[in-house]
Amino acid sequence: MPFIPSLQSIYPHYWVRFPRKVFKTVFPFNHPRLMYFYFARNGIYHLGEYLKNKGMGRMLFPAYNHGNEIRALLAAGVELEYYKILSDTNIDFDDLEKKIRQTGIKVLYFIHYVGMPQNPEKIAELKKKYNLILIEDNALGLFSGFRDQPLGSFGDVSIFCFYKTLPIPNGGGLCINNPELNFTVAVKAPQLVSTLSRTAGLVFTWMDLKFDGFGRKLQKIKSSFGNIADKMEVERVPVLDSQFDVSRADWGMSRISYYLIDRVSVEEICERRRKNYQFMHEHIPEKFHLFSELPEQAVPWFFPVKVKNREVVFRELTSRGVDCARFWRHSHPDIPAERFPEVRELRDLILELPIHQDLDEKQLSFISEQFNQLAK
Ligand SMILES: Cc1ncc(COP(=O)(O)O)c(C=O)c1O
Repeated sequence: MPFIPSLQSIYPHYWVRFPRKVFKTVFPFNHPRLMYFYFARNGIYHLGEYLKNKGMGRMLFPAYNHGNEIRALLAAGVELEYYKILSDTNIDFDDLEKKIRQTGIKVLYFIHYVGMPQNPEKIAELKKKYNLILIEDNALGLFSGFRDQPLGSFGDVSIFCFYKTLPIPNGGGLCINNPELNFTVAVKAPQLVSTLSRTAGLVFTWMDLKFDGFGRKLQKIKSSFGNIADKMEVERVPVLDSQFDVSRADWGMSRISYYLIDRVSVEEICERRRKNYQFMHEHIPEKFHLFSELPEQAVPWFFPVKVKNREVVFRELTSRGVDCARFWRHSHPDIPAERFPEVRELRDLILELPIHQDLDEKQLSFISEQFNQLAK
C-alpha cells in the first residue's frame, strides 16, 4: 500500500549538496532583522512581551487561527479581541473596522491562510487611517507573493514557520520590517534529542515514499527507542501541535535546519507546490474547493477541500495511506466561538490534502481518485 505523507521529507542527497546561498539571496532569509526560533510561536511570545512592555498589550486577532499563536500571546500577557473571518477565509473588513473604532486597539494581527494572500492593500489603508501596527502571520505561505512583493514583507513584523514548507526538523522566524520596533532575543540551542528524533522521522518518511512501507517499519523501531526514552524520561518536543510551553520560548532553530535550508532549491519547491495544487484543482470537483483559483505568486501549503462527510473521508483516506488532516478543527477556549459561525463551518469542513514538493502526478492521482470516491 502506498503511503503519502503530509509533509516533505529529507532526501539523502540533500546532505551532500553544496550550499546554495539561500541565506544571502532569498527572502526572508536574507532579511537583516530576521530572528530564528525552534518554533514560530516562540517568536510570537517574545513579540507579545515586547509590545505589552511598550503599552500595546491589546491586539485584534482573527477568529480563525491555529491556537498555538493564541497560547503564546496569552502567556505573554496580551489581551485579544477577535474579529470575523468569512467562509472564503477573507477578512470581514466591515467587522474589523467596527472593532478598531469600538476598542481603539492599535495592533492588528492577520493571517494569510494556506499561503493565499489576504488583501494587503486594504490592510495598508486601515493601517494608514488608524495608525496601526501590523503583525503579518505568514506561517503557511513561505515564498508566497502578492504583486511582486513577498508575503511577510507587508507587516511591521511578520511570522514564518519554515518547517512547514522546507525539509527541516524545526525552525520558525520573526522578521522585524519596521526598525522602530527594536528588539532582539538571545536564543539558546534546542534540545538535541528532539531535533535528532524529528530528523530521523523525515528521513524515514522519504524511505516510505520511495519504498512503500519500508520507512514505517523503521518508524516502528524508532518508536521502540522512543518508548525506552520515555521510560528514561527523555522528553521529545513535537512540531505541528497547538501547545505552547514558555520554558522552551528561548529555543532557537537547530544547526541541522540551518544546514538543510542552505541546500534546498527554492525555485523547484515553489514550482512543484503550485503545479501540484493546480493538478488537484483540476481533478477534484469544484463543489469541494475552498478557493476558486490559485492566485499568481501564491505558494500553497496544502490543497484545502470543504467536505460535509469529513470524518468518514478523513478516516478512510488515512487508512488508505493518505496522510491528511482535519485543519484547525478546535477553537481555542479564549475565542467566543458562538459569535463566529463562518469559522465554525471552516473548522468542521476543511480537510487538508498533501501537495508538497515530494509528490508526483501518480501520487496526486491516487489522492484525488480516493477522495472523489469518498466525498459527498
Ligand atoms: C497561522 C499560524 N501561525 C503560527 C503558527 C506557529 O508555528 P510554529 O508551529 O512554528 O510555532 C502556526 C502553526 O502552528 C500557524 O498555523
